[in-house]
Amino acid sequence: MTWLITGGAGYIGAHVVRAFTEADEQAVVYDDLSTGIAERVPDGVPLVVGSILDGERVRRALTDHHVTGVVHLAAKKQVGESMEQPLRYYRDNVEGLRVLLEAVTAAGVPSFVFSSSAAVYGMPDVDLVTEETPCVPLSPYGETKLAGEWLVRATGRATGLSTASLRYFNVAGAGAPELADTGVSNLVPMVFEQLTAGAPPRIFGDDYPTPDGTCVRDYIHVLDVADAHVAAARALRSAPGTALTLNIGRGEGVSVREMIDRVNAVTGHERPPAVTDRRPGDPARVVASADRAAAELGWKAKYDVQDMITSAWAGWLHRHPEAGRD
Ligand code: WQD
Repeated sequence: MTWLITGGAGYIGAHVVRAFTEADEQAVVYDDLSTGIAERVPDGVPLVVGSILDGERVRRALTDHHVTGVVHLAAKKQVGESMEQPLRYYRDNVEGLRVLLEAVTAAGVPSFVFSSSAAVYGMPDVDLVTEETPCVPLSPYGETKLAGEWLVRATGRATGLSTASLRYFNVAGAGAPELADTGVSNLVPMVFEQLTAGAPPRIFGDDYPTPDGTCVRDYIHVLDVADAHVAAARALRSAPGTALTLNIGRGEGVSVREMIDRVNAVTGHERPPAVTDRRPGDPARVVASADRAAAELGWKAKYDVQDMITSAWAGWLHRHPEAGRD
């Protein structure tokens, strides 16, 4: 089989591409390089530069490369930006997906793996979030991911396309320094940035109803996320007509304060955090139940928070050598 991986030049996508090739699955990358980096695509993997909004170009890529499955990660992914530019998010994440699905079904491609997010749950009021927990997204970003799941599922019902929507929790870490996330919009890189500037890491509020008062999240290594895609792709291939919706997390909550303590220890900076106001819209606790992914895919996370921070820091030092302690 040949898998077209949209967004395969992005942070998570590049790890997915490697996981596929290491599992002896053929991969082709489709990416508009708006945030993706061509150098992240490994030698021997074709790169088609194009937008998912360009149906003709997608159709040509599907036929030229004899594609038999699509893994769709190409999307905009910043919650704050989506509040300011909702139309852009709906265009890229919903209209882009619709155009892609039109091409996929026209070409008779049988399998589709969709990159969704824990952002679909919004502010869940449960200890562990299952796939049955109500979806009440709080941002246009989360809305576009939920609408995307609906589009994917409805297309599957109507056409027989086998589908899997993977709801990632908080992705961190890197498989190699040069594959690290270049964005600075999530906790771990934001702490690195503060430490590099000689400033204290910030805790956005310590008055939440959690054990240490700071928000609790389910952090998952990008290598584990990538492996989940391979497992999902293979599950779809062996069971046509499947429609899966799966949490991709570790099922373990870690607080912001614990994360910052661990980052301080790994980096050697040892700078005490400063507590600032809450960031609007942050839920106190979002931790996955990862049982369904284990049952359906036989997939389970292998890496821990230490692995995530160590590998992310190696990636940060690769791009910011000045951040190291003498
Ligand atoms: C984690 C916690 C912050 C920076 C978002 C999306 C989610 C997914 C991942 C894409 C929060 C706190 C952060 C800092 C802090 N994205 N924080 N100081 O908000 O859980 O999830 O990104 O799919 O869908 O919603 O991730 O990394 O921004 O924040 O205290 O300097 O760290 O308040 O509690 P979040 P995050």
